[in-house]
Amino acid sequence: MESFLQELSKVLEKKYILTEDKDKAPYLTDWRKRFTGKALAIVLPRTTQEISEIVKLCAANEVALVPQGGHTGFCGGATPDDSGKQIVLNLKRMNTIREIDVANQTITVEAGCILQTIQEKAAEQDFLFPLSLGAEGSCMIGGNLATNAGGTNVLRYGNTRDLCLGLEVVTAKGEIWNGLKGLRKDNTGYDLRDLFIGSEGTLGIITAAVMKLYPLPISQWTTLVAVDTVAATIKLLNLFQKRATSLLTGFEMMTQESLALNEKHFPQMANPLKGNPAYTVLIELSDHESEAHVRELLETILEEAFEAGLITDAVIANNLSQANAFWHMREHITLAQAEEGANLKHDITIPLSSLESFIQKTDALMRANYPGVRIINFGHLGDGNLHYNIAPPLGTDPRAFNLTNEKPIHELIYAQVERCQGSISAEHGVGQLKLGDLRSHKGDVAHDLMKTLKLALDPQNILNPHKVVSI
Ligand code: FAD
Ligand code: MLT
Ligand code: ZN
Repeated sequence: MESFLQELSKVLEKKYILTEDKDKAPYLTDWRKRFTGKALAIVLPRTTQEISEIVKLCAANEVALVPQGGHTGFCGGATPDDSGKQIVLNLKRMNTIREIDVANQTITVEAGCILQTIQEKAAEQDFLFPLSLGAEGSCMIGGNLATNAGGTNVLRYGNTRDLCLGLEVVTAKGEIWNGLKGLRKDNTGYDLRDLFIGSEGTLGIITAAVMKLYPLPISQWTTLVAVDTVAATIKLLNLFQKRATSLLTGFEMMTQESLALNEKHFPQMANPLKGNPAYTVLIELSDHESEAHVRELLETILEEAFEAGLITDAVIANNLSQANAFWHMREHITLAQAEEGANLKHDITIPLSSLESFIQKTDALMRANYPGVRIINFGHLGDGNLHYNIAPPLGTDPRAFNLTNEKPIHELIYAQVERCQGSISAEHGVGQLKLGDLRSHKGDVAHDLMKTLKLALDPQNILNPHKVVSI
């Protein structure tokens, strides 16, 4: 390994190859503090060419690499194993915005660009880059692409895959594939771009991307509404889809238990709706028409929802800071869970037509089998995406609770996901967390096709091995 590190120092300056424990430590534990690995070195390249040479060196020495962006992923995908033989390839120095093409409405960015920086650069030119998630201040576009991240704007603009037109990728052989075209139509054979998106660093290293931009909306109204039942929540969504059509840009659901946990850790973020509603829904409308026009539309739909008995209370944000406060309340649930201690995450999607049945049955089974557990159920309801997270009963040590109950709780919840023909990973990916669940969830044929692709593109299994699919 000494000779490998010496070879590496011919590609990169030594200060960008971290080998001391204290320097490596910040890169070795995931955001949730669930996985901690070891690494031979943390490598911080600046250019695509450097990455190509690093990968060639790894291939020659059979050293595995773990690509890493902001390390905010929830499935341990960017954390190395505990062998101490892998290198972590962190892309944070590859952070140049290469181009904004105003006529084509695209932005070309390097993989290490922070998501929020891309949003800000786009806004400077009157464009919206719609990908938005709670980790946007630290996650990177390469990580967003590698996980096909979702977030709060999927309902209107799609997930990261839908926002990407082209990629630049370093393959497992160290070749550079330049697919950086900003085309909205390109039917030239297999879609390599879509193969790399969502592959969580197991098929190639994403070094740059061409992403779509949209005109920046000039008016935005945000409201919180109180709803008694899941059935009413879905009817409310359908009402907004019908009346507001493409103006509907956000539809997020939070249960009473989720907001209680939030308020426990962030009392300043109390729900402005009184009476602890069973379900609080955050709805956002955005448009290019005047503010008055959108506000009137929102009020009309809310009136209709009251009359139909779908909502019992509503509060509209009257200014940007109130709207931000509503969104902060929603986005702080994840942080409140982290403050509370270890929890069990279930990032699932269910067809909207089965959502009520899923929640009723799963809630009942959970409460019967695990008295006292807190069901922290919230998420992007407009996409059928629930974060059906489980916190242990109050007064129970979370780690001890999870040690005994994690597997049966996953099994219980995933059985209901299967019954409803849903997915066990809506937006967070598979990583190492869900590796063991994938085969049974996808079925043998799909799983074997995935293995075939992995072996074809990375026959030495050096790109993020033992993540997503086991070889
Ligand atoms: P990392 O965690 O560094 O990596 C994730 C995976 O991508 C790993 O497998 C890694 O090997 C691979 N990878 C990283 N960069 C590259 C690259 N350049 N080439 C190839 N592979 C690469 N996710 C959502 O989808 N929706 C949400 O609403 C959401 N909310 C969140 C809120 C909070 C507070 C937090 C902490 C996380 C949230 N996440 C959410 C999860 C996470 O932010 C996303 O998965 C994000 O896309 C990960 O980006 P990252 O740069 O941190 O990637
Ligand atoms: C979010 O939408 O806030 C996160 O993806 C959910 C989570 O923390 O499970
Ligand atoms: Zn989410």
